[in-house]
Amino acid sequence: MTLVEPDLRRAGSSPPAAPVEAPNWVPIRSLAPRHRARIARHLLALPTHDRYLRFGYAASDDQIRGYVRQLDFDRDEVLGIFNRRLRLLAMAHLAYAPDEGDPDASAEFGVSVAASARGRGYGRRLFDLAALHARNRGVQTLLIHALSENAPMLRIARRAGAEVVRDGGEARALLKLPADTLASQVEQIVESGAGEWDYRFKHHARRMQRLKEALSALAHRR
Ligand SMILES: CC(C)(COP(=O)(O)OP(=O)(O)OC[C@H]1O[C@@H](n2cnc3c(N)ncnc32)[C@H](O)[C@@H]1OP(=O)(O)O)[C@@H](O)C(=O)NCCC(=O)NCCS
Repeated sequence: MTLVEPDLRRAGSSPPAAPVEAPNWVPIRSLAPRHRARIARHLLALPTHDRYLRFGYAASDDQIRGYVRQLDFDRDEVLGIFNRRLRLLAMAHLAYAPDEGDPDASAEFGVSVAASARGRGYGRRLFDLAALHARNRGVQTLLIHALSENAPMLRIARRAGAEVVRDGGEARALLKLPADTLASQVEQIVESGAGEWDYRFKHHARRMQRLKEALSALAHRR
């Protein structure tokens, strides 16, 4: 049976009746081919059930490695949240349909958050930023495939104003995106700058920490 749930807060139409509380701000950066190993490590650490929720099937290690190998960083966007040790805690894949610029242009959103980092608002933050990126690229509809049992994912989508259509054990959430504005473009530039700066800072801090450890090991040897 197909069940269409009411679209509570459709983006781009009437504003929500009550202000929607923003998730805690956390820097997010765009990932590049050089991050493939970190992406693979993050996905391979997901337990079987999470892989099932993420991909719609219990992806094997080989299937995950294949997925990571085939990520197209030119066509799509991959966004990530790192901890201070530069471990990838959460990532989102925004897959653009080839017909960008089309009146029905769409993109598909997929996300995963490490089990130890759930409930901090990372999933929602990634969703909101991915929606902003998609909007700024002229995408009109953001699509999310999820299992009906996936309460957190469906909550994130509904909260953003998506229409959720359930079909048995599966659900499709469709979020209509408004046209981009100067403000939405500037917001993306600011977010990207902050994400990049944060990553460099952590990278530098990590190198300094290693250097300090090496020097102290050397001092102890004398
Ligand atoms: C779905 C997933 C990304 C959510 O990540 P998260 O960082 O824990 O989510 P958030 O902290 O942003 O919480 C999202 C919302 O879900 C709610 N939530 C969390 N767990 C919930 C649960 N078990 N039942 C109902 N709602 C829940 C949170 O309260 C929050 O709602 P709020 O913003 O109104 O308070 C994460 O659970 C995950 O990686 N799952 C495995 C992969 C997957 O399912 N991917 C989605 C399909 S592509």
